[in-house]
This record gives sequence, structure tokens and C-alpha cells, in this order.
Amino acid sequence: MSDYAKGLEGVTAAETQMSYIDGTAGILEYVGIPIGELGSHSTFEETVFLLWNNRLPTRAELDGFTKDLRARYRLPDGFIDRIRACPQDAQPMHVLRTLVSALALYDKNPNANDVPSAREKGLNILGCTPAIVAAFDRHRRGLDPVAPDSSLSFAENFLYMLNGTKPTPTMARAFDICMILHADHGLNNSTFTARVVISTLSDVYSALTAAIGSLRGPLHGGANEEVMVMLNEIPSVDAAEKYVMDKLERKELIMGFGHRVYKAKDPRASHLQVLAKQLATDTGNQALFEKSNKIEQIMHRERAAKGIYPNVDFYSATTYHCIGLKLDLFTPMFAMSRLAGWTGHIIEQLSDNRLFRPKAKYVGPHNAPYVPIDQRG
Ligand code: CMC
Repeated sequence: MSDYAKGLEGVTAAETQMSYIDGTAGILEYVGIPIGELGSHSTFEETVFLLWNNRLPTRAELDGFTKDLRARYRLPDGFIDRIRACPQDAQPMHVLRTLVSALALYDKNPNANDVPSAREKGLNILGCTPAIVAAFDRHRRGLDPVAPDSSLSFAENFLYMLNGTKPTPTMARAFDICMILHADHGLNNSTFTARVVISTLSDVYSALTAAIGSLRGPLHGGANEEVMVMLNEIPSVDAAEKYVMDKLERKELIMGFGHRVYKAKDPRASHLQVLAKQLATDTGNQALFEKSNKIEQIMHRERAAKGIYPNVDFYSATTYHCIGLKLDLFTPMFAMSRLAGWTGHIIEQLSDNRLFRPKAKYVGPHNAPYVPIDQRG
């Protein structure tokens, strides 16, 4: 009997204490706490502490962790020149992948991969990645970077560095919730990528750079941008029916739907749907939300029987749009949050490492003749 599982579907390849998913019941928990509870009551900083320590912090621990993170908002000296050297038309995910890799050049000991060093490097990278994304976006708009403000939360500081003005509490909280909801999700492709790379005892920068590359794909984190493209292509709520049905007829994917693990509605999508509705009302984007809602209704009618429901990317597109983010920043936002999960998984992998080295099932010929080059047809 073959032990081959295409796409590793159904294969358990690691142990984790961070997130639990029941795809049939539509449950996601971080360290046992339902994602909806965290989205309603936690902060991104507290969630990162939870994921990296497998428990909620005391107030003193949270204050200490927040202070440590804020101390890392600033980019290394001279790093801004690298951002300015990027072509203004470069895609932000390529910029992010390149510059997270470049952070290793400013680390005196980039290869250290004992657990405390990995944790420290993960914190550094998490702390300053928002500055990379914000400064690049301003650079392409011909604007100078805005220095980070360490009196602000992770979410507030990013929006401040991006826009040059402090966000309203509503916008900052909405963005903070997005960061919480995207922080970890079992052994998804980019997380697996990070674990595979670090399992060679490579380094944290390489593992996170590879994970960013994985996340960019439209079947993974890149789907949130594709959702927005789709919403822009549909001129009105009434046009959604024909648009979706035509696509399904052509056997094309409706982005933001379906999941390898969930065969019910992704609980993050449910939480984001409520958030998106509120933000859309606040920002005059009701039509966008109504289009999304309509697509969900059509997909429910057409594909619920196949277990195809909205995933995290579906309503995050509307949410990010209402927060004022440009379309090509949606996936970098996912990456900024998922750095927390990736780092946690790197720590878990290093704590009990075994090199990932699966087999391939060979399906080619055997004992083939070596034909001299002049005799090949
Ligand atoms: N629209 C229409 N049909 C779909 C969709 C969709 N979005 N997703 C799956 N199906 C159909 C698929 O065509 C197949 O039909 P059939 O049985 O007739 O061949 C059936 O559902 C099973 O799909 P699958 O491709 O075998 O499922 P998978 O587990 O390999 O794929 C997926 C999961 C996420 C790659 C896929 O659902 C997809 O491509 N979705 C669109 C992209 C997307 O939204 N990605 C974000 C995933 S969640 C966030 C993240 O991980 O980053």
C-alpha cells in the first residue's frame, strides 16, 4: 500500500501547543482559548505572549513584553537606505521577503539558533517589520519615512508610520483584531515552510524569509488580495450572481472560499464579517460589504454541500480596505501578524528538532540506457 499523500493531506508532521483546529466544527483555539474570545478581549501583544509561552501573561509580564517589543520598533542604522534603494514599483511582498532576509546582515550573530536566541531574533523581526512595510509604502508614494513611536501599540504604531497620523481608536482596534486573528493557524503551508527550514539548523532569518515566500501564493495568504480584485471586478451587488455563477461554470476558484482543513465556516471569517460590517458602515463602504455578503450567500447555495465556506481571507479583504490599506499591502499585513506564529513554531521545532526529510515516490523509468549526446533524437 502506498503511503503517498499528495499535498501531505491528512498527514500529521509536527506537534504544537499553539493552535488547535477542528475543521468540521469550525473551531480555532490558541493554547485552548477560542479565537473569538481572543478577538473580543485580547490584544496582539498579549496574543504573541500567549503563543510563545503557552499561557496568558500576568499584567507585569505583559507590560514587560510590550516594552521589549516597543524597544524593537526602530530599524537598524542605515537600513532605511535599503528601503530607498528598492524600485518604487516593486511589489511589497517581494520587498518584505528581501528586507527581512537583509536584517540578518545587521545581526552580529545571525546563525545562533538556540531557543533564547531564536526568541530574541523573532522579537526583533516582529518589532521592526511594520517599519519596513510602512517605509516602503511611503517611499513609493515619494514620502519620507515616519519614525516609530514607542508609546504606541503594535497596531497603532504601524498605522501611524504608514499614514503619518495617529489612527482613531476604532481603526487601531480593528487592525489589532486582524493581527490577533491571523497570528497562528496550525501547520499551514508557510508555517510548515518555516519549520522545514529551521529543522536543518539553518537560521531564523532564512526560515522566516522562506515562510514569507510561501505565504505570498494565491492559494495561501495571497488570496486576500485576490478577493479584493474580485470585489473590484463586480460592479454592483446585483452583478454578483452572474459573476460567481460564470466563474463556477468555468470551474474557476472563488477566492476567499475553501480550505484544506475547514469544511465549515472558518471562525476567523465569522469574526471578521462582524468587524467588516461595522467598519464598512463607519467608512461608507456598505456596498463592498453587501457584495461580500451576497457572494457568501451564492457560494453557500452552490458549494456548502462540498464543504466550501468563507476562509479568513474573504472578509479580511473588506476589513483591510475599510482600514484604508492599499490592496497590495493586504498580504504583508498577514505576514506581519503571522511572524508571531512562525516564530513560535520555530521555537517549538528547535526545542525538539528532527530534520524534515520525507520521501518522494519515484514514478520514472529504471535501467534506462545512457545515450551518447550525438545519438539523441
Ligand atoms: N471556489 C470554488 N470551488 C472550490 C474552491 C473555491 N474557492 N475551493 C475548492 N473548491 C472546489 C474544488 O474545485 C474541488 O472541486 P471538485 O471536487 O469538483 O474537484 C473541491 O472544492 C475540493 O477542493 P480542493 O482544491 O481539492 O481542496 P484543497 O484542500 O486542495 O484546497 C484551497 C484548499 C484553499 C487551496 C482551495 O479551497 C482554494 O484554492 N481556495 C481559493 C484560494 C483561497 O481562498 N486560499 C486561502 C486559503 S485560507 C488562508 C490561508 O491558508 O492562507
